[in-house]
Amino acid sequence: MIEVENLTKEYGEFRAVDNISFTVEKGEILGFLGPNGAGKTTVMRILTCFFPPTKGKAIVAGYNCFEDSLNVRKRIGYLPQRVPLYEDMKVSDYLRFVAAIKGTPTKEVNRKAAKVMDDCGLSDVSSKLISTISGGYRQRVGIAQALVNDPEVLILDEPTVGLDPKQIKEIRSLIKELSGKHTVILSTHILPEVSILCGRVIIINKGKVVAEDRPENLATESAQRMLLRINGDTEMIEQELSRVDGIQGVEREHASGDANGFIVVLEDEKQGRQGIQAMIERNRFELMEMRLLEVSLEDIFIKMVTKEEA
Ligand SMILES: Nc1ncnc2c1ncn2[C@@H]1O[C@H](COP(=O)(O)OP(=O)(O)O)[C@@H](O)[C@H]1O
Ligand SMILES: [Mg+2]
Repeated sequence: MIEVENLTKEYGEFRAVDNISFTVEKGEILGFLGPNGAGKTTVMRILTCFFPPTKGKAIVAGYNCFEDSLNVRKRIGYLPQRVPLYEDMKVSDYLRFVAAIKGTPTKEVNRKAAKVMDDCGLSDVSSKLISTISGGYRQRVGIAQALVNDPEVLILDEPTVGLDPKQIKEIRSLIKELSGKHTVILSTHILPEVSILCGRVIIINKGKVVAEDRPENLATESAQRMLLRINGDTEMIEQELSRVDGIQGVEREHASGDANGFIVVLEDEKQGRQGIQAMIERNRFELMEMRLLEVSLEDIFIKMVTKEEA
């Protein structure tokens, strides 16, 4: 459905996107993960025909984004990072307006706008002015305008940025419902977001693809860390921990102010756990807490970058 080949975009001397290639299959939700400035928005702007690439090509639904942009634009819905909304229009009028300018036949405009308001949970605010609705509803209006002409492809640029936790949850479940019916590319700098929503993830950094995988594989590929609280002689515990098989490194955990906190980097989780248990029993220490720490985007980056350099 989407094919991107050796895409490069330069702003003057600066290369924001550097020879990126990927494909997205029909019905897939692809996560575009990367820190601020990685080049996510730039790729999305090329896909939505906002500007052409410096080099390379992008094909959406069989049409070239540069040579056949009208046909691409008909098949794409775009939620930009900052949604430009007409503040003094009512939600329903705005969506009818967008449907009309996207070429919906006049007699279908009302039906399409009503359907998208229903799908996006906007029926309660349909007659309110856009300037008066909350951030979560604004974001829904943004998604609704992208969906109103029922496009095959949806491009969502950081759809949950700036929302509160409850709104984030609602927007995520809305996006989840879109999969299957639409092909979606979604950008984010939040790792758990891609695990929840995406079947596949592309990580970009400084304009380059540094990894591509299923989200669960990305998490397992990076080094697991475990938090331990053990009562006993701290120096001795640290030394003993560093000798356990399956453990790569040991650090004191300072954040909690508890002298008995340690963070270990695991090489082999099962072996590490068993070794720690045995070491504690042998020394008659007391285990107070043992839990895996969640893998963060930072952890994955560190792993990817060190892998590249090696
Ligand atoms: N119009 C522009 N002119 C010059 N530089 C830009 C422009 N837009 C983006 N950039 C730069 O290109 C890089 C990638 O930006 P962007 O695609 O917005 O990244 P992301 O969306 O991943 O945060 C950044 O370093 C940004 O400062
Ligand atoms: Mg961006």
